Amino acid sequence: MKLIDGKAVSEELKNTLKQDVLEYQQRTGRTPHLAAIIVGNNPASKAYVGNKVKSCHQVGFRSTLIQLPEDITEQLLIEEIQKLNNDPDIDGFIVQLPLPAHIDEVKVTLAIDPKKDVDGFHPVNFGRMAQGLPCYLPATPYGILLLLDRYNIEVSGKHVVVVGRSNIVGTPISILLSRKANPGNATVTLAHSRTKNLSEITLQGDILIAAIGIPDFIKEDMVKDNAVVIDVGINRVAAPDQPKGSKLTGDVDFLNVRSKTSYITPVPGGVGPMTVLGLMLNTFKAAKKEIYP
Ligand code: GUN
Repeated sequence: MKLIDGKAVSEELKNTLKQDVLEYQQRTGRTPHLAAIIVGNNPASKAYVGNKVKSCHQVGFRSTLIQLPEDITEQLLIEEIQKLNNDPDIDGFIVQLPLPAHIDEVKVTLAIDPKKDVDGFHPVNFGRMAQGLPCYLPATPYGILLLLDRYNIEVSGKHVVVVGRSNIVGTPISILLSRKANPGNATVTLAHSRTKNLSEITLQGDILIAAIGIPDFIKEDMVKDNAVVIDVGINRVAAPDQPKGSKLTGDVDFLNVRSKTSYITPVPGGVGPMTVLGLMLNTFKAAKKEIYP
């Protein structure tokens, strides 16, 4: 079993990015600028956005955090988005999800200018991704592709089983790995909450990607010998023995699954840091107008 060290890879690639950003600044006199909108006080969302801001500073970007109240109306939120769409100083921005229940996430996503949609959530970017056209890849799938590449994990011709069909991870990674691309050319099965005989399917996965948001859901008897296991879950669970009284755990029962695998990502320190890196890379592409010249 080899541990896939997403923290180390993300630090390495952030250092490379930092050099590229410096060179870009010297050449153009501009500094890439990412903005993040956060609505309300969800502690997990605040922590994620805090990490994104920290990474901006690490790689030499400017960042602007826009904190809006929990009870903001959908209309006012959309007006904030339009300001960012029209602000030439902002290269890209994200609206941290989830949003409060009274706000329609679809409407909000549609309000974002696809050229500045560095999360890759707008249907224009999603559609371009599905057709293999230049686009901002959603950050988590992007991070997974980079990890597979960095560890030289063969994907072509392999059976990839993805568990979970969210718009931001399960569905896009299943499309990306089946594309005629590198990494890609896999045979992909997308399993989800209505899948029957799930274990029979996960056991076929040369590469198993867990993105369902249920702590320790993937057990040892669901994993093929020598599989590559990518755990996208970030679940906070009670842990009375920890100082905080809780800890982060993935969707994979790591302690029991790891010995069966050829490679596995830990939580934390696996996919999570790569997601932030994906966002940084997209923001740099936005600054350079690489996707939408
Ligand atoms: N919530 C969970 N993951 C993400 C993400 O990648 N981007 C945004 N904006 N919200 C999220």
